Amino acid sequence: MARVAIVTGGIRGIGEAISVSLHEAGYKVIANYASHDERAKAFSAKTGIAVSKWDVGDFTACQEKVASLSKEHGPIDILVNNAGITRDAPLHKMGYDAWDDVLRVNLSSVFNMSRAVINSMRERGFGRMVNIGSINGQAGQFGQVNYAAAKAGMVGFTKSLALETASKGITVNAIAPGYIDTEMVQSVEQSILSKIIARIPVGRLGHTQEIARAVRFLVSDDAAFITGSTLTINGGQYMA
Ligand code: CAA
Repeated sequence: MARVAIVTGGIRGIGEAISVSLHEAGYKVIANYASHDERAKAFSAKTGIAVSKWDVGDFTACQEKVASLSKEHGPIDILVNNAGITRDAPLHKMGYDAWDDVLRVNLSSVFNMSRAVINSMRERGFGRMVNIGSINGQAGQFGQVNYAAAKAGMVGFTKSLALETASKGITVNAIAPGYIDTEMVQSVEQSILSKIIARIPVGRLGHTQEIARAVRFLVSDDAAFITGSTLTINGGQYMA
């Protein structure tokens, strides 16, 4: 029977590429999204991938959704924590909401979703979790104390949960993408973005599929011995 995967933030950007890649590999994918109903509908119609709307920053919603989706599609074997937002500003201009929103959506969501799937994975002796971090959690980034803190926090979470689950057939890994050609990155002011691209040794933005392919490997049986690691995919921009 096909393994069941949830991809949070799974209808746009890197998440979209991950959902499609896992679907093509034969997994039963549920792509979560938070808004953009029309886009979700079109994505599902085009790809045949199930979509489901909830706020991954809401603990209760995550527990309820995972319970109902497990009933509908089968227990969750694979969780890709990809959902993320930016609210960039230097600290001296950053309001509490910009801090709180980013920590809630980018980091608390990882707790919320992992907590929702962990017992079933432990009982069944199998699970794959991949947390999508960022180069900016490794290197820091002007204007992103919130985002960088959330993404760095994700790495500590990944390592700790990997230790807790290693004997249970569950692997927990992170990927730290560099600047990938997504709407999020394209929303950075073009003059700033050109300077960033000039610092990427490979000389270009990454493609979403270049992250999706790594996720596909990490969730496969071939990657059973890889846990607690962070895979850096950034065109050589930062060598962690
Ligand atoms: N390093 C050093 N100085 C910088 C700087 C940098 N990276 N960026 C801006 N500055 C300087 C400017 O030159 C300017 O200096 P002067 O005042 O001397 O002219 C000053 O800082 C501007 O500071 P402000 O307080 O006025 O900042 P701002 O409010 O105008 O803009 C910002 C701040 C919106 C954060 C802007 O710098 C920015 O967009 N930075 C890019 C942030 C970024 O890379 N975000 C990534 C989004 S994509 C993503 O996150 C995906 C992923 O995982 C990679």
